[in-house]
Amino acid sequence: MNYNELLNNARDNGYAIPQINLNEITWIEPIINAANKMNSPIIIATSDNLIDLLGGYEFVCQTIRSKICAMKVDIPIKIHLDHSTSTENCVKAIDAGYDSVMFDGSKLDIIENVKETSKVVAYAHKNKVSVEGEVGGVGGKEDGIEDTIKYASIDDCITITKKANIDVLAPALGSAHGEYKGKPNLNFELMEQINNTLHQPLALHGATGISDTDLKHAIQLGHSKINFNTEIKKAWASTLRTTLEENPSFYEPQKIIKPAKMQSKMLQSI
Ligand code: 13P
Repeated sequence: MNYNELLNNARDNGYAIPQINLNEITWIEPIINAANKMNSPIIIATSDNLIDLLGGYEFVCQTIRSKICAMKVDIPIKIHLDHSTSTENCVKAIDAGYDSVMFDGSKLDIIENVKETSKVVAYAHKNKVSVEGEVGGVGGKEDGIEDTIKYASIDDCITITKKANIDVLAPALGSAHGEYKGKPNLNFELMEQINNTLHQPLALHGATGISDTDLKHAIQLGHSKINFNTEIKKAWASTLRTTLEENPSFYEPQKIIKPAKMQSKMLQSI
């Protein structure tokens, strides 16, 4: 299944595909391992602001694809560019072989957002690549992207979906990147309205800290992609911290990194 078929299949059958953000190249193997163990499709995403740190679009794409071949897994694994605010970078990721790109025009007014997202869609669709668009404001702070929570309007959801012809919509519905201050307050009424009006895959950003009950509810209401980043980073950092504290004599990177790399319990629970 290609990216759109996969997300539409998830939507039609009441499940969602986890998006896991790649923060370190050594994370590729445990992410694939965890998805394979769960026999689950998975989306591996790179935040556009971290791409140079990870080695660039081509390096990331080719490394993931080589790893999939070497590990001989046959679950669907897709590669996605997360939160790009640059049409040029979306083109670079498409040329490098990404399956999907997100153009994040949420800080622009809706007319500009549609205009810029449409440019990405035109190039992406010519290359059989999917595009995710965002309206409203996902709160919190992550990888250099910061915003306050602004609930998406139904009109903007319709406008970006129809006029820019996007494949996946990320409407801000009360979620936030990073750690929540207080309890997340998702607007399920608005979610239902968007789902009933558009009938297309939705992406939920800022899943860390949202209860399983709310995540299941969001999946029932059209979310076929759920994005996780912070909770994986926290699990990795806490294992690394413990390894260093318990083994002050360690200096070999492989010994220090291995336990954090094996910390895939969090991924397995997704
Ligand atoms: P969290 O960091 O809150 O899990 O959100 C991830 C995300 O939405 C990436 O786009």
